Amino acid sequence: MKILLNRAMIMMALSLLPMGLAHADVVSKYENTCATCHEPNNDFNAPAKGDTARWNQLKIQKGTDGLVRSVAQGTSQMPAMGLCQSCSHDDFAKLIDYMSQ
Ligand code: HEC
Repeated sequence: MKILLNRAMIMMALSLLPMGLAHADVVSKYENTCATCHEPNNDFNAPAKGDTARWNQLKIQKGTDGLVRSVAQGTSQMPAMGLCQSCSHDDFAKLIDYMSQ
């Protein structure tokens, strides 16, 4: 019984691992790229990390797809790919969600 329980716990830990890694990846991508301009109280008037109201407004106006497209193509003040050349569109969607919190 004890062995079974241990095994169940290991399986649970393993199943959580990919999620944990994915999150750490998003955080490090954010810190190495988007954070240059998207930190709270930035000088660029970029929507700030944690400004949930502004991000929700943008999501309503443009949709997540529209916002992902903005990053990929760049905007007047944001370079194309937001300085993350290795990011996929999926990464951008995750980074946008991360910044909205
Ligand atoms: C060099 C500065 C800079 C970097 C780096 C940067 N951004 Fe931006 N971003 C901005 C600015 C400034 C705006 C506000 C829109 C504008 O004025 O161009 C913006 C706007 C946005 C928007 C809203 C676009 C829209 O259509 O309204 C999204 C989404 C976004 N950034 C995501 C990201 C992501 C994701 C990253 C990292 C991969 C990133 N940005 C990196 C400066 C930057």
